[in-house]
Amino acid sequence: MTENAPAVPGTPIEDGPDLDRRRMLTTTTAIVGAVGVALTAVPFIESLEPSEKARALGSPVTLDISKLAPGEMMSAEWRQKPIWVLHRTAEQLAELPKLNGQLKDPLSQEPQQPANLPGWNPVQRSIHPKYLVVVGICTHLGCIPKYRPQLNPPDLPAGWEGGFFCPCHGSRYDLSGRVMDGSPAPLNLPVPPHYFKDANTISAGELADGSQQNWEPDTW
Ligand code: FES
Repeated sequence: MTENAPAVPGTPIEDGPDLDRRRMLTTTTAIVGAVGVALTAVPFIESLEPSEKARALGSPVTLDISKLAPGEMMSAEWRQKPIWVLHRTAEQLAELPKLNGQLKDPLSQEPQQPANLPGWNPVQRSIHPKYLVVVGICTHLGCIPKYRPQLNPPDLPAGWEGGFFCPCHGSRYDLSGRVMDGSPAPLNLPVPPHYFKDANTISAGELADGSQQNWEPDTW
């Protein structure tokens, strides 16, 4: 087939040096294009009006917790990040205040949650005692911690009361997402804006009046 001849439907395209080169250029252009989009996305989002910014960052997500048994955790995605809901048992809740002396920010004074969350308890770090809602990203360098509810497992430091353990550099968080002393992570896990639509449904990413959709923590 000559260079300018139209392709006949169903005719195999012959390989050759020109075709290889064209394929390489196409691939390179696609990669450069993808990198360009990634590099321009942040300034683009920062320049938007609040409502547009909220849409670009990601809509709130609805979480069905009707089947979440005590001690279980579920995961979803919000703003391309993992978001967890943990259904804590009465025993787990009772342990939380006892850990206050081993934590960097036991009363959640750093802005790792929206201000004035209705019903907020700074030790439980939740608006409903049982249900912890956090973003599952370590505040050290962004790995995803593991949910480790067992007491004193052999592979974790002695005295482990259950919590979240980051396998990358060993940061430890309690079952409220509060970071423990001696961890490289500086801050508690972020608690996103959220509210209960009903007893079995949480909306994460906004408050009941639709506000706080642009909220971001000090550190993800
Ligand atoms: S990223 Fe979690 S401890 Fe470093």
